Order: sequence, then C-alpha cells, then structure tokens
Amino acid sequence: MGKFTVLDHPLIQHKLTIIRRKETSSNEFRQIVGEIGGLMTYEITRDLPLQDVEIETPIGKTTQKAIAGKKLTIVPILRAGIGMLNGVMEMIPAAKVGVIGMYRDEETLTPHEYFCKMPKDIAERECLVVDPMLATGGSANMAISALKKRGVTDIKLAVLVAAPEGVKAVQKENPDVDIFAAAEDDKLLPNGYIFPGLGDAGDRLFGTK
Ligand code: URA
Repeated sequence: MGKFTVLDHPLIQHKLTIIRRKETSSNEFRQIVGEIGGLMTYEITRDLPLQDVEIETPIGKTTQKAIAGKKLTIVPILRAGIGMLNGVMEMIPAAKVGVIGMYRDEETLTPHEYFCKMPKDIAERECLVVDPMLATGGSANMAISALKKRGVTDIKLAVLVAAPEGVKAVQKENPDVDIFAAAEDDKLLPNGYIFPGLGDAGDRLFGTK
C-alpha cells in the first residue's frame, strides 16, 4: 500500500490555519497556498537520488552532488491545483508541467476529465500530481489513471487537506502511489466538502464565489 504522510512542519501548520479562516482574502489565500506547496515540495523531494558530478570552481576541480534519476513533471488538476503550482515550481524550476482538467458533477460528485496535456516524454518522467483537496479521491484517482494510461509508472500525490475517505480510496485503487498532505481532516460531509476543511479551494483561490 502507498504511504500516507502528513507533513506537519510548524510553518505548514501555521499557514494552513490562516487559509482555513473564512475571513482570509483570495489574495492572501492564493499566496499562502503557493507557499505551502513549496514547503511541501521541499519535504517530498527529500529522497531524490543524487549522483556525483565533476565540476570546476574558480579555485579548482571537485566532485559534488547533483540530482539524478528521472526528470520531474508537476501535474496540477484544474482548476484548484494551479494554486499550488507556482510554489512547487519555485522549488523545482526545471520541472515540466502537465495539466489535467477535471470537473465534478455536482449531483453525483463523480469526476470527469475534459482536458489533458502532458509533455511528450511523460512515460519516462516522475509525476507529482497536485490538488489542494483530497475529498472522495475520485479526481485524484482519475488523474493518476490518466497518467498510467500514458505509461507513467512513478507517481506521487500532494494535497493540502486530505479526508480519510479520500486517502483510503487512492490507497485502494492506486497502492503504488505515495500520498503527502499538509493535514488529515475529520471527515467528508455528504455534500462533498471536507470538515473542517477550508471551503471550496477553487472559489477561494480565484475569487469566484
Ligand atoms: N473540494 C474543495 O474545494 N473543498 C472541499 O472541501 C472538498 C472538495
């Protein structure tokens, strides 16, 4: 089964509390979602493999470390995943971005894919799927299966707030995918919102409420 890790660094917890507050403006919300995305990326990439490289400093030759292994692709799930993208990209500026568009049927709560644009060499890349809310797990599972259909074998999922139900659903359908969250909340409500959560992440990011 894939690992589920809550990245509860004090900075992450503090920032998450700010964006949970209902009075936090879209401006501040957007800024902080990006910051948390960056801090999470710092932790998620802790185990990236390194290789020795020969370089020359102004003083002389030396052998130093550089990141080895597969190239990374960040995969934000539209639209709220875009909120985490800048922060993640600040940590990994050379990463490519593959975008996947999902919408949720408001009545059945089931996700539907309407857009998918990936780098050509996606099958050779490690993918970090990002979406602020892991609610039912439907969108995450659909995004992961869209990547697997394109030959991707190395996938991680990063969310800000996870409902236990969403974690279970992803672990069941995609046991090879490790999940990282800034927090695991109490539960999923019948209306599809996470409690206590932070409301509709897309609306709060883009001021569309
Ligand atoms: N999507 C959101 O934006 N918020 C939730 O609480 C659940 C799903």
